[in-house]
Formats: sequence, structure tokens, C-alpha cells
Amino acid sequence: MNTIPKNHDYALDFGDKLLALIRFVFKNQAEFRHSCLGLYAKLSPLWGGKLASKEMTVNFSDGSKPINLCSPIVLAAGANKNGKGINSYANLGLGGITVGTATRNFRIGNTHKPRVGLDESNRLIHNSMGLNNDGIEKISARVEKQIGKANKNKFAVGISVAETPGIAEENRRQDLLETFSIAYKAADYLEVNVSCPNTGEERLDLDTCFMKEIFFEIENFRKNAPCRKAVYAKLSPDLTDKQLLSLLDLLAQFGVNGIILGNTYPSDKLSYSLPALNEKGTSGGISGRVIYENTFKKAVLAKKHFPNFSLVACGGIDHGLKVKDLLSEGVDFVQVYSVFAFRWMAAQKMIYELDFK
Ligand SMILES: Cc1cc2nc3c(=O)[nH]c(=O)nc-3n(C[C@H](O)[C@H](O)[C@H](O)COP(=O)(O)O)c2cc1C
Repeated sequence: MNTIPKNHDYALDFGDKLLALIRFVFKNQAEFRHSCLGLYAKLSPLWGGKLASKEMTVNFSDGSKPINLCSPIVLAAGANKNGKGINSYANLGLGGITVGTATRNFRIGNTHKPRVGLDESNRLIHNSMGLNNDGIEKISARVEKQIGKANKNKFAVGISVAETPGIAEENRRQDLLETFSIAYKAADYLEVNVSCPNTGEERLDLDTCFMKEIFFEIENFRKNAPCRKAVYAKLSPDLTDKQLLSLLDLLAQFGVNGIILGNTYPSDKLSYSLPALNEKGTSGGISGRVIYENTFKKAVLAKKHFPNFSLVACGGIDHGLKVKDLLSEGVDFVQVYSVFAFRWMAAQKMIYELDFK
């Protein structure tokens, strides 16, 4: 088993340099640029974007509906928060998309500006958006309309859900369960985001009592649902090995199918945080290649101790050889996000590297 991760790097080509120019032009509008990914996906057939044909299926031993993907690289939650234009993203060479994170109702997110910053030299993003989204009802309705076409192309659509930050203690369980049950009807698979580092609230993955309660309720819901769908928990990358293994133990007891490892890395624990965002007094998360080595190590640890869990690696994956390394360690598929800010047609390039390098 390989425990020394290699942070494979790529040489910048013309497209990457064009992207660098776009970042420079919009350097004070990181959030606007981030929201252009949908348009970029829509237009991408103009410069060679097309459906991937690297089909794979993730099967589950508990009878959950298999996840069919047209490539092992899936767009991570946060890039398409509201479920608009889902099918365009298939043009990017992605195998699927996780929409959201959705909460029970519309949320404006954090009110400070900027909420997103980029560190060019480290190719990282500092995110402090605070779960802005249109609310699960609108998001699920959009997914329901588009998922038929997506599935015909073996493009899977998951929905990520989270508790409404700051909700009264007595309403927490119902809030998350309602959001989950609305999302469940629409999506191919579900992600429960228990690790958001930027809402000013405590993360759920450290709250063992609530984790037990909510995953107990979720499992009850699934037992009574007409179709069993896969449920993943999205965990924070800063968990200690001991915390991670005891969480996996807990999740396994409640029939959770797998984990996404992981979310953005809490910025107060890394020296890379961007002062412009820290000054606002709200914590945030760091993503991009600086967190990759941790992603790899945690994935290897999780697989070693819980081989039956479906494992999705996420965090700093920006090269096809990283995907290859992770798949060979037993990861089912990977999720990516930040790479699209730095690499032109990133997923297509990564598929090429995965096959031919
Ligand atoms: C601007 C931004 C917004 C994000 N929003 C969400 C979100 O709403 N829900 C979520 O689960 N993860 C969110 N993430 C985290 C990503 O899904 C992913 O876990 C993280 O960025 C690590 O992957 P990467 O290094 O490939 O970007 C967000 C990340 C960024 C950069």
C-alpha cells in the first residue's frame, strides 16, 4: 500500500494561461468568476468539451441504487449550488455532479465581502460563502426536471444537504430530515454535509450525539422509502485519525454507504488563509492542491479500516495521476472543484492523464 502521496503537477498550457488572464482581469470578483463555471460548461463544446466515455458503476451491498458515472471525476458540492443547467456540466468530461449544499430554505450566506479569495502562487481557494442557496424545494424541483436527461448520459446527480446554520436546538433534527427527504426524491445519491467550516456554527461531525440521532432518522426514512438510495457523509479533512475512525464506526452502524473525504480544510488551522477573508472574523475553508496529501493519507486510512465503505476522495485533486493513485487505493470515484479555477478543461485533461500517462 502506497502511503507516500505524490502531489503530481502539470505544465501550464495555452488554456491554463488564458484562465490565468481571466483570473487576473476579475481578480477582485472571485465570486462572480466562480459563478461563471456554468456558462463555461455550456459553451465548452465550442473548444472541444464533450461527454466522457469512461463509464463506471458504484454498486452497494445493501441494495441501494447503483451510481452510474460516465467518468470517475465528479463535480464537488458548492460549484453548482442551485441545480441550474446541470446537463451542461457533462460537457466538461465529468461523470456526475453534486448539487448544493442545500438547506431547508433560501439562505443568503455570509454577508461580508469578499467571501471567496484565490491564492495564485499556491493555486488554492479560500471560501467563506456560508451555505448560500435557494432552498431545497426549488433545488430539488430543478434536479427532478433535468435528471432524466443526465441519467441517459450516465451523468449522475447527487444533492448535498445540511442543517440550517443557527437553527434552534429543538428544531435541528426535523430541519435536516425534511431537507434530506425532499432531496431524496430527486437525486441519484445524497450527501449529508456535516463539515461546513464557514457558517460560524459548530461542525456536526464533531457532535457525536447529533450524528447518531440524525443518521438513525435517515436510516429509518430509507427503510420506508420505495427505493433505497446511497447516502454519503461529507467529513472534514482536519479530523484526527482517531476521530475519523470512530466516526466511520458510528456511520457504519446506521447504514451510511460511504464518505466524501473531505470538505475544505478549516482555514484557522492552516497558514495559507487569506488575510482579506480572515479580517471579516468568519472562519472559512481552504481547498486546492495544498490539501491533497492529507486527502490521500486519510483516504488510505479509511479504506484500510473500513474496506466496505464507498470512499470518495475530494481535496486538491488536479491531475489524472492523482485520480489513478486514489483509484488504486480503493477509492470509488473522486470529486473536484478548485481545479476548475486553475486548469482549462481540467476533467478532460485528467482523464487523458489517467489513461495515457
Ligand atoms: C467556493 C467554494 C464553495 C464550496 N461550497 C461547498 C458547499 O456548499 N458544500 C460542500 O459540501 N462543499 C463545498 N465546498 C467544498 C468542495 O466541495 C470541496 O470539498 C473542496 O473544495 C475540496 O476540493 P477541491 O480541493 O477540489 O476544491 C466549496 C468549496 C469552494 C471552493
